[in-house]
Amino acid sequence: MLGAGNRDPRQFAEPDSLDLARHDARPLTFGGGVHFCLGAALARLEIEILFGKLAERFAGIEATGEIAYRERLTLRGPTSLPVRLHPRRVAAGAAAAGRVHPAGGDDRA
Ligand code: HEM
Repeated sequence: MLGAGNRDPRQFAEPDSLDLARHDARPLTFGGGVHFCLGAALARLEIEILFGKLAERFAGIEATGEIAYRERLTLRGPTSLPVRLHPRRVAAGAAAAGRVHPAGGDDRA
């Protein structure tokens, strides 16, 4: 139900497009009103850190198969999402000095 609300064309332009730059969006992802999700700030921080680290370490993420979804009426989400991570090219000097993971990124992170 919340997922359907997030795709309401009266509320969101092109609701089926992933547009990370939407400014005016007021999604129902974390519910609303008195029962608004108490963990929303933590969840947003976790998501920000996760995607920040992925972007730091990998040049790209490619979908490699079909997404399987949970059979639930309320919260929608995938049970599996097959992807391939494309490593960043590592500067030869940094790799030789052991400061960078083979897949990119930095050991100090
Ligand atoms: C992406 C992650 C998350 C999503 C999408 C999410 C989504 C939601 C939604 C839609 C509700 C409202 C349910 C309703 O109206 O009945 C809710 C409530 C709640 N969430 Fe989350 N949540 C997330 C993460 C978290 C985390 C990390 C915590 C705690 C550490 C948390 C704690 C709670 C609590 C305690 C409520 C009940 C609030 C109340 O009824 O007053 N959630 N969440």
